[in-house]
Amino acid sequence: MSNSDFTPRDTFGSKFGIIAAAAGSAVGLGNIWKFPYVAGQNGGGAFLIVYLLFIIAIGLPVMMSEFSIGRRAQRNAIGSFKKLAPGSPWYLVGVMGVAAAFLILSFYSAVAGWTLEYISKSVTNAFAGKNESELNLMFGNFISGTWRPLFWQLLFMIFTVWIVMAGIKKGIEKYTKVLMPLLVVIIIILCIRSLTLPGAGEGLAFLFRPDFSKLTTDAVLGALGQAFFSLSLGMGTLITYGSYIGKQYNLSGTVIQVSATDTIIAIMAGIAIFPAVFAFGIDPAEGPGLVFITLPNIFQQMPGGYFFALVFFVLLAVAALTSSISVLEVVVAYFVEELHISRKRATMIAALMISVLGVFCTLSFGVMSEVTIFGLGFFNLMDFTASNLLLPLGGLFIVLFVGWVLGAERSRNEISNQGTLRVGYFPVFMFLVKFIAPFAITLVFIYGLGLLRL
Ligand code: PHE
Repeated sequence: MSNSDFTPRDTFGSKFGIIAAAAGSAVGLGNIWKFPYVAGQNGGGAFLIVYLLFIIAIGLPVMMSEFSIGRRAQRNAIGSFKKLAPGSPWYLVGVMGVAAAFLILSFYSAVAGWTLEYISKSVTNAFAGKNESELNLMFGNFISGTWRPLFWQLLFMIFTVWIVMAGIKKGIEKYTKVLMPLLVVIIIILCIRSLTLPGAGEGLAFLFRPDFSKLTTDAVLGALGQAFFSLSLGMGTLITYGSYIGKQYNLSGTVIQVSATDTIIAIMAGIAIFPAVFAFGIDPAEGPGLVFITLPNIFQQMPGGYFFALVFFVLLAVAALTSSISVLEVVVAYFVEELHISRKRATMIAALMISVLGVFCTLSFGVMSEVTIFGLGFFNLMDFTASNLLLPLGGLFIVLFVGWVLGAERSRNEISNQGTLRVGYFPVFMFLVKFIAPFAITLVFIYGLGLLRL
């Protein structure tokens, strides 16, 4: 028998701690770096509507399912399925999740590293006096380099390891409780700045006025992938976090608060970015460089830009960190509980393995840019495989598991805290997880992959 059979599992210490950690996971580069540029490339408002629909019809039930599985089983992503459906192949859903964690953190840490470089550029006032093409060049030169981006990526991984190693209460919860409120304050400041720029209205119109002609099949699959990625769903992050939630807390309240925070912050990121983009006459479909090229360009033209640039990149780094710890935790919890490795060693081993993959992601912008697999560079391959394939597929199996294997009785029991909470919405939840969410995910999935043409 291992040690873990005697020592109680670490848990979150308070309601606010749970929300901070889970919202910390959800709110990340997905909201601030990815959402604005993906929305920008896919027509703004129309993309937003599809995205919101996916959050409600698919995101909420998947999140509830993940929390229920984790809290019921009190195990990591793989162990949870082994415990709730012993002797069945369902644990492979967890295996897929752990694999997705490796892929996601490998490219995520690359972009997170860029945010650190841009903090240092902000401090040294490196954007001052540069025009769009010079800033473009600056970004291009930086990401196509070798040692600089690798250095920042590694440093970011060290921060992540530092927090995860300290455990749930003394690591993840302790840091997210401070960092998340900080993030909210920063994004509010940036929204106010952006909204008070002359010409802000055009940017808002772009974000909120739907142009359905831009809504391609790619955009719809992209919206689904983005919903999963942004809410941290489909790979067992919230199964793992759910297993640290005490039996007395209300899961549905947590689901609503976390998804609302995530969605509001994504929209706020859009509000902070698009009015400024239009005010300075820049193309909203700029792509992944939007926050690294366009924003510095805007900052250096506006009053107080030095301050706002610094604040913005700190925001990005903070958001990335509270997410990356949740991705690493998926792997660490698995290593600790299933492979019986100490937390310290598990964290180091997992981070080391991920960093090796991460090096390839970073180098795919530079010396390895010629190397492509299925026509994609390593970075894009990791992103596409994880976000658009593994996460939706994982989410599909997770809702099917709750709907058809865990079943109504055990799910109701878990969600209602053993019958002590009123759960009038339960039949709706069951209907969503049994039929609507699986159907919707499958449809978008095969349609988006081009296997079906409507
Ligand atoms: N939700 C995070 C973000 O938006 C990324 C993430 C994906 C975290 C999957 C955990 C799991 O940046």
